[in-house]
Amino acid sequence: MEYSAKVMEHFMNPRNVGEIPKADGVGTVGNAKCGDIMKVYLKIENGVVEDAKFKTFGCGAAVATSSMATELVKGKTVQEAMDVTNKAVMEALDGLPPVKVHCSCLAEEAIHAALWDYCEKTGEKIDGLKKPVDDIDELHNTDSED
Ligand code: FES
Repeated sequence: MEYSAKVMEHFMNPRNVGEIPKADGVGTVGNAKCGDIMKVYLKIENGVVEDAKFKTFGCGAAVATSSMATELVKGKTVQEAMDVTNKAVMEALDGLPPVKVHCSCLAEEAIHAALWDYCEKTGEKIDGLKKPVDDIDELHNTDSED
């Protein structure tokens, strides 16, 4: 399996690892198939993501995609943060091997879950944001065998 230099770099030196005390939005998503779990913390001020951190108990691709996803949402409005899809994260990382695409879905969902938490706490609305699932397996068919 070939990883891009950017994936390797973000895996070896992940950005934004940790947690934000009293975060405005926190989201946790797992994938029952591989057992990986990702937690994202967002600090949001005046509708702008001021800071993002994550803790990932998962594979290297999950670490690299959470690193890149948290980098990409920083400085964006909560609405613009919706554009940080798994596809956008993969493009920023110069791609992922096909069997690792689901790992980037975990990053997208964890950010959505954190945005959802923020909306619940503040009453804000974000277009296109859906109630998060606890396990991305409910959303994406991550089983490559069938
Ligand atoms: Fe589970 Fe990558 S193998 S997130």
